[in-house]
Amino acid sequence: MPPSPGWNLLGLSLVLATFCGALETAAQGNAVTDALNILFIVVDDLRPTLGCYGDKLVRSPNIDQLASHSLLFQNAFAQQAVCAPSRVSFLTGRRPDTTRLYDFNSYWRVHAGNFSTIPQFFKENGYVTMSVGKVFHPGISSNHSDDSPYSWSIPPYHPSSEKYENAKTCRGKDGELHANLLCPVDVADVPEGTLPDKQSTEQAIQLLEKMKTSARPFFLAVGYHKPHIPFRYPKEFQKLYPLENISLAPDPQVPTGLPPVAYNPWMDIRQREDVQALNISIPYGPIPVDFQRKIRQSYFASVSYVDTQVGRLLSALDSLQLASRTMVAFTSDHGWSLGEHGEWAKYSNFDVTTRVPLMFYVPGRTALLPQAGVKMFPYIDPFDSISELMEPGGQAEELVELVSLFPTLAGLAGLPVPPRCPIPSFHVELCREGQNLLKHFQFHDSKENSDLHGNPRESIAYSQYPRPADSPQWDSDKPSLKDIKIMGYSIRTIDYRYTVWVGFNPEEFLANFSDIHAGELYFVDSDPLQDHNVYNDSQGGEFLPAWLLP
Ligand SMILES: *[C@@H]1O[C@H](CO)[C@@H](O)[C@H](O)[C@H]1NC(C)=O
Ligand SMILES: *[C@@H]1O[C@H](CO)[C@@H](O)[C@H](O)[C@H]1NC(C)=O
Ligand SMILES: *[C@@H]1O[C@H](CO)[C@@H](O)[C@H](O)[C@H]1NC(C)=O
Ligand SMILES: *[C@@H]1O[C@H](CO)[C@@H](O)[C@H](O)[C@H]1NC(C)=O
Ligand SMILES: *[C@@H]1O[C@H](CO)[C@@H](O)[C@H](O)[C@H]1NC(C)=O
Ligand SMILES: *[C@@H]1O[C@H](CO)[C@@H](O)[C@H](O)[C@H]1NC(C)=O
Repeated sequence: MPPSPGWNLLGLSLVLATFCGALETAAQGNAVTDALNILFIVVDDLRPTLGCYGDKLVRSPNIDQLASHSLLFQNAFAQQAVCAPSRVSFLTGRRPDTTRLYDFNSYWRVHAGNFSTIPQFFKENGYVTMSVGKVFHPGISSNHSDDSPYSWSIPPYHPSSEKYENAKTCRGKDGELHANLLCPVDVADVPEGTLPDKQSTEQAIQLLEKMKTSARPFFLAVGYHKPHIPFRYPKEFQKLYPLENISLAPDPQVPTGLPPVAYNPWMDIRQREDVQALNISIPYGPIPVDFQRKIRQSYFASVSYVDTQVGRLLSALDSLQLASRTMVAFTSDHGWSLGEHGEWAKYSNFDVTTRVPLMFYVPGRTALLPQAGVKMFPYIDPFDSISELMEPGGQAEELVELVSLFPTLAGLAGLPVPPRCPIPSFHVELCREGQNLLKHFQFHDSKENSDLHGNPRESIAYSQYPRPADSPQWDSDKPSLKDIKIMGYSIRTIDYRYTVWVGFNPEEFLANFSDIHAGELYFVDSDPLQDHNVYNDSQGGEFLPAWLLP
């Protein structure tokens, strides 16, 4: 039986006194042998449609169980809603304007600065660092090597069945194989008889077995591929989501007040054979309603499939007696619009594509140390009827950014947190642009929370998105650097999201805030889904921080 939330909170206060002391000691000495291991799980394109984030439909019992022992951040945001820029940003702890990666086509070490990464930092601090699956985005943006050798102690692992992801492996109604968007498969029937995320879990478990007796702590990053498109997942997961139970997005229309520059035409799903056959008009669609339901069904089914992989991995961590000395960080690179605003992709500045799940399990800190013989993370079958809703162990409402992962993991591990970056910081290899979030774990470090004068600072999450033109066109989703003409800078506070789309010079990397192409303003309370742009009504901007005014 999972512990009740009360048990966890009590546990948290009980352990705090001793634990703070222990961490201070670890931070002072370099007692690397006592250091916590780190399991870093990053899921591709996962928005917080999870039970632990209040979703009533999606079955994610294993991630919910992790949350029940974790501190969960309700308002965590990615810095750019596309894979490579987001991953390079959080793995280096720098914003896209510092990594200068807004597309897929450059390697920051030669293009921007020789910035350290999270795994590199742990490697240099005595950890064995290992990568399984999609952690760095493959290709140029990680020098075709997942940033080896700098980031990893051993060569990164990629599942062999990854190469079939975009191949014709989806059995259609005609009995033939297609490259579809919706791709529920019989696993026994696909090439190699397996799927990438299953292979990654198996590899990660093998590495955990090897590390069990290691004298050195480990940093194991596991990157899951689903629910990224195509939705290629074991078909039995569809049964969890009967089509008649699938609702549409609450706001499936393109909002009338949306500036065209803010919209992205979701070109990538249109290239899949099953979507092509629908002959959907470009750029605004819409997708037929029954197909919308099917996309949502397959996304949710893919999430439950990933949940089972996370469950198997955590259950192995437990069986190997590693759960008491391994912290687990769980997140995603960005969200995905499942029909909200008439969009079916990431590639925007809305909450639905920038908001991500983020949670940290820290043994003895966010939960009591597991007792001998009691499993902390027993595998839960999502097909079993739901016994009990598991609440997060602890929750933080404050807005946080993925760029804060780096200093937070360093701090939680008791290592010296990299100093704040100067501006500019292209010449500085190790510094942080994000915040150290340790105060949320009740550290006594309250300076993080205030400005230079000790005033409380309003927490803000920044995101940005580039565009090649003011109106949606073929490359609006993913413009190449040289084609970027406009940058949408967006801030999210607890009360509102405010975005300005301004002229951008990709040769100089300069944004021109006097050249405003469009603006968006949405209030969280009255318009949580961001459908009613009130930017024009509020040109006075009396509620905005002075530094944001043109
Ligand atoms: C970049 O950083 C890596 C890792 O610290 C180091 O090995 C390499 O020499 C650096 N390269 C340059 C050009 O400074
Ligand atoms: C990128 O990879 C190439 C080919 O392996 C290598 O020669 C080059 O040194 C790498 N770049 C950096 C900055 O390490
Ligand atoms: C589908 O909805 C019906 C009616 O609300 C409910 O009884 C049933 O349990 C749902 N099925 C699933 C698999 O969630
Ligand atoms: C806001 O004002 C601009 C410039 O006058 C105009 O083009 C745009 O349509 C207006 N947007 C809304 C939502 O009224
Ligand atoms: C596709 O849609 C366009 C208009 O949206 C129409 O002119 C065309 O005939 C359609 N093609 C097919 C094959 O249905
Ligand atoms: C910035 O934009 C303004 C308004 O369009 C323009 O007058 C100015 O020349 C631009 N500045 C630069 C450096 O391009």
